[in-house]
Amino acid sequence: MNSLTLFLPCAAGVESYLETEVRGILDDSPRRMSAQRGGLLVEASWREMMQLNLNARLCQRVLIQLKEERYQSEDDIYKAASSVPWEMWFSERLTFKVEITAQYSPLKSLNFAALRVKDAVADRFREWRGVRPDVDVRWPQVRVYVHLTQDTVLLFVDTSGEPLFKRGWRVEKGEAPLKETLAAAMIAASGWADTDLPLYDPCCGSGTIAIEAAQIECRIAPGHNRRFGFEQLNMHQSHVWQDLKAQAKARERAPTRRIFGSDVSFRMVDFAQNNAERAGVAHAIEFRGGDALQRNPPIESAGMLILNPPYDERIAIAGVAARSQAQMPEGGDFFLQLASHWKKNFSGWTAWILTPNLKLPTQMRLKESRRVPMWNGPIECRFFKFDMVAGSARQKPKDAPRASHPDA
Ligand SMILES: C[S@@+](CC[C@H](N)C(=O)[O-])C[C@H]1O[C@@H](n2cnc3c(N)ncnc32)[C@H](O)[C@@H]1O
Repeated sequence: MNSLTLFLPCAAGVESYLETEVRGILDDSPRRMSAQRGGLLVEASWREMMQLNLNARLCQRVLIQLKEERYQSEDDIYKAASSVPWEMWFSERLTFKVEITAQYSPLKSLNFAALRVKDAVADRFREWRGVRPDVDVRWPQVRVYVHLTQDTVLLFVDTSGEPLFKRGWRVEKGEAPLKETLAAAMIAASGWADTDLPLYDPCCGSGTIAIEAAQIECRIAPGHNRRFGFEQLNMHQSHVWQDLKAQAKARERAPTRRIFGSDVSFRMVDFAQNNAERAGVAHAIEFRGGDALQRNPPIESAGMLILNPPYDERIAIAGVAARSQAQMPEGGDFFLQLASHWKKNFSGWTAWILTPNLKLPTQMRLKESRRVPMWNGPIECRFFKFDMVAGSARQKPKDAPRASHPDA
């Protein structure tokens, strides 16, 4: 088990950050590693696979690639799946499920292709063990992944179990919570971890951005509080895994810079506080209630604002801008007032905003200094960077909404 080919799926746009993260987790011995669209292929040992599950913040799961074969029909897929020694990987006493994804596959039914893989796994067990494992589509103990390209079938066994964005601490959440993996991608893209700046999320909701940042600051492994799929596989050695967890625990440290979150909804602030406690970082974050248009910097020195503000009908803008937003599309007035408030009061800060609204800089009358494409599930977003320089309205495009705030 010392040379596994792992595939780490991630959101499109995050691949290069994931590659940097993985290089930081694994030792720097030469190995095959290549970023692909939507993931990273990496050669690693069984022990490193566990380290990745425990420490990676940016990937959705860690899969072991077991087969790569050309196909034309479902029969070819059945044959490819039959040739994998599944009985080496897991026991017939465990339940399993087949998950399938595809890109440009000419097959008519992906469900049928998944069914053929399920049959191949079951038939293989029957042949080699005399019995077959049961399928459980809701709570499988083992997940088999199939990915079809135009002409190639790839087969994987999953080592993560529940997807990795489920860190185990976010029990309480609002209407549009950010996935932990996306919050971590925002932090990675902002470069915050390599600065010594404080961080503030003024629309913090259930606290995901602040909590991810605080765990990074305290060096708490994101997976320290959850179970993983590899614990069910035949090769699992509990004592090696416990050692790895103990080593990760020993690396934890006290925070040296400050992290803040606030939200106009006091209910959300309570959720964020409880989530931070479960994540082991309540001591590292200060949460408050309050309207982003009225909150002043929580600290004298300049820092970094990172947020995904309210953006659609699910999460309405609340607070002082709530009445006027009806007159402007996509919360225009709120964002114009926010820009004005930041220019006046957050001079020297950098603001990073994730939004599906590509016209946000125009609405804010600010010129972004960077724009990073990111996907929030199926929603295409941009992660905009704005440098707050006092009194600098950078852009006055003709189609910008008219200011309703005195100093906008
Ligand atoms: C898209 S959600 C943020 C989700 C958050 N990142 C999380 O992980 O849960 C937007 C948040 O902005 C808050 N909000 C709406 N209007 C606000 C305002 N004027 N000031 C501060 N927060 C506001 C909402 O209560 C909501 O929690």
